[in-house]
Order: sequence, then structure tokens, then C-alpha cells
Amino acid sequence: MEKIWSGFYKKNINERLEVVEKTDILSEEHFQFLKNNEVLDFSTANNMVENVIGTFSLPFSVVPNFIVDGKQYVVPFVTEEPSVVAACSNAGKIVAKSGGFKTEVLDRKMIGHVALYNIADTDAAVRCILQSKELLLKTANEAYPSIVARGGGAYDIEVKVLSEDGTDFVVVYLVVDTLEAMGANILNTMLEALKVSLESLTEGVALMAILSNYATRSLVTAKCAIPFENLGKDGEYLAKRIELASKFAKADVYRAATHNKGIFNGIDSVVIASGNDWRAIEAACQSYAAKDGKYQGLSKWYCDKKNSVLIGEITLPMPVASVGGSIGINPTVKVARGLLNNPDAKTLASIIVSVGLAQNLAALKALVGDGIQKGHMKLHAKSLAILAGASNDNIELIVEELRNEKHMNLASAKKIVEKYNN
Ligand code: HMG
Repeated sequence: MEKIWSGFYKKNINERLEVVEKTDILSEEHFQFLKNNEVLDFSTANNMVENVIGTFSLPFSVVPNFIVDGKQYVVPFVTEEPSVVAACSNAGKIVAKSGGFKTEVLDRKMIGHVALYNIADTDAAVRCILQSKELLLKTANEAYPSIVARGGGAYDIEVKVLSEDGTDFVVVYLVVDTLEAMGANILNTMLEALKVSLESLTEGVALMAILSNYATRSLVTAKCAIPFENLGKDGEYLAKRIELASKFAKADVYRAATHNKGIFNGIDSVVIASGNDWRAIEAACQSYAAKDGKYQGLSKWYCDKKNSVLIGEITLPMPVASVGGSIGINPTVKVARGLLNNPDAKTLASIIVSVGLAQNLAALKALVGDGIQKGHMKLHAKSLAILAGASNDNIELIVEELRNEKHMNLASAKKIVEKYNN
């Protein structure tokens, strides 16, 4: 399969579709959907959210030859930003040559909480809740029997007393195995069912019952080990500087925000393509970046000098789903999932976290090497040429000329396009 994808980005759209067809990676129905450039239809869209007046499209791309846990994936990307797909392909290729990404799914459970206040004796309330744990878990499970029937359900209860500005809260955390679902509805139904029991156990008042997006029971680790020489001719120099860049992103919050933005260039693209809730994933991972009390870069890169290898690691909460939400509704999501061979929730999470690490590697390698602008502007030139009105027949020539301009901007692009049109 590896060879057939070689030079994929140099092909035109029809040739790319031919590759997709030849690999037999998609069902006939999904392939035809892609080939006919079909989209979410109006009536389905209208049933998904409120006040619909149309549908909104974004480019749908793939990163081929992406190796995770010994398996080769064609990863679907939905992004509007030039150079993101190229960057992930670039890093994916380097890591594939180095043995691919290795991942570990540390757990896959969701957490939600009920916050209670106006409690006279918080210590007694905590004791009472913990003594009633089995009964509370039973109540939660009875509120959502279908997840229990599938083998999941409420799993554990933890309690904390938190104080803020003179108010004490007793917070009851419910841990639930939501299996293949992201689990917001499951958690929220269970938590709301617990409110009355918790109020009577604590003699307090429930403030709210809701899932938490700080998904620390859905952590996934991805790692890669890249021999210096696979980073190019200055491999060792680049590896040492990538290690420094990783330290810098731990030290400086201004850098950490951008470092993590680069990671989410890839993560959001796949989360959106796979029909998952990218706000939930952003919330989970951005809060995880501050888990040690200070917002930091989410990845770690360091050199194993003895073996001349650069090691990359990232651990993120990644509670993505393979069912529920728009996954079974949006037909383009079904095609995207088809490209990945319809992964279960844990496999999808492993791929997405690996994509985050790859995206970070590409950005850091560029930043500590020639600088980000060289590669970015190379691709940005194409967007400018399109905006300026370049046609399929002359776009390559216009891009080439635009890249040699002193000022690579829309005005320069328009001048070149005008020249070609005359
Ligand atoms: P290059 O070395 O000039 O590329 O990199 P190349 O022509 O030698 O090709 C190497 C491989 O890259 C190719 O292998 C492809 O896999 C891929 P091949 O197939 O030729 O054997 N590749 C492409 N894939 C699809 N379409 C393309 C394409 N070109 C190369 N057109 C490249 C050029 C842009 C890839 C490189 O400079 C790079 O990775 N740069 C990083 C760009 C980046 O991170 N962009 C994200 C947006 S910037 C941002 O928002 C985040 C940031 O602020 C985060 C941070 O600060 O940490 C940077």
C-alpha cells in the first residue's frame, strides 16, 4: 500500500481519487459519495442543529502512510489552514521511517460531577456519600440501563470538599465506562438521577450535575523514537534544538500556547473529520496543559545521545467516540471513518494523539531549522494564487513566480495572474 500513495500530493484531484479507488480502502458507496463531491444534505443538516440556512464546507484531505502501532493509516483531515496537511505528512513520513508511533491507552472512562452547597457538616456529608457508594452507583446505572447492558456503566464515586470565597462545595465525581460513546448524555442523565439522593444524604442543595471535559480518565500516550539521521543532514543539530524547543515550551506560557496550537492543527483536523466534538477535546487537552499548576507545552522531546535518537512523547486526554453525536448522521464522517477502517474509540484516540505529536514535530523541525515561513509560504503561495484568480491551467506557474517575489501577498499574486490572463 505504501508505494501507491507515493507522490500523492503532486497528483490532481482525479488522480488522487483513482489512488483511493485502487486501494479499495473505501466501500463502493463511500467512494462514489467522495467522487461525486456529495455533502451533508439540507434536511439532515436541518435535523442536526437549530436555525439552519445551509451547509458549510471545508477542504477534506488525507495524510497517507501514517504508522501507528504497526498499522498503516490514511488519516482524514478537515482543515482550512495551508501547510497543516503537508506538515503532518512530512513528519509522518519521518516517523514511519523510524518505526512509527507507539501508543498506550491508559484508561477510557468519563467523569462527571454533582456540586452541592449549603451543607452544615461537610465531613459528615462526605462520609455518608462514601458509605452509600454502592446504592448511588446502582441509582446511576438504573438511570441508563442500555450502557450497562452493553458492558459499561457507572464504575466509581469520589468526593471532594472545595472552598471558594467563603463557600464550601461538596463535589461528587461519578466515573463511568461509556464504552464507544463520548458519553455526555449518559453522564448527564446519570448525574441528574443522583441529585435527589445526594441532597437527602448531605442535607444540602445541588447546584448542578454535568459531565466534566477534564477527561483525566481517558489518557492516551503516543511516543516515537527517531534516529538523528532520519531528520536530514543536520539531524543531530536539529534533534538537540528540538529538545531545547520542548524545554522552552515548558518554561514560557507565551510559547506553550503556540506550541500547543501547532499540536491542535492536526488533532482538530482529525477530530472534526471523525465527527467528534472538537470543543470537548480542546477543553480536555488545554486544561490538561495546566495540570501541574502552570500552562505548559503538551509534548516532550529529548535526545538519547547514546543511541543517537530523538524521542518524542505526548500524553493527552482523548475521549473521542466511534458512535453517537454526528458520527452516524453526517455521511462525510462515515467516509472519513471508512478511510481509517472504522476504528473503535481507543484506536481512533491513539491515531489522533499520534497526529498531534507528528504535527508538533513538523512545526518544531521547521522552527529550529530554516524557520516556519519558508515551508508555510511555499504553500501559502498557492492559496494566494487561487484567491487572485489563478486557474487550474496556470496555477503552478503563478505559484512558482509568486514565491520569487519580494513581497508575497495578494497584490503581487493579482499582478502575476493578470499577466498570465493577458
Ligand atoms: P519540505 O522539506 O520543503 O518538503 O517541507 P519536501 O518537499 O522535502 O517534502 C517532504 C515531505 O513532506 C513529502 O514527502 C510529503 O510527505 C510532505 P514526499 O511525498 O515528497 O516523499 N509534503 C507535502 N504533503 C502534501 N502536500 C504538500 C507537501 N509538501 C511536502 N504540498 C513542509 C515543506 C511545509 C512540509 C515543511 O516545511 C513543514 O513541515 N513545515 C511545518 C509547517 C507547519 O507546521 N504548518 C502548520 C501551520 S503553522 C502553525 O500554525 C503552527 C506553529 O506556530 C506551531 C508552533 O509554533 O509550534 C508553527
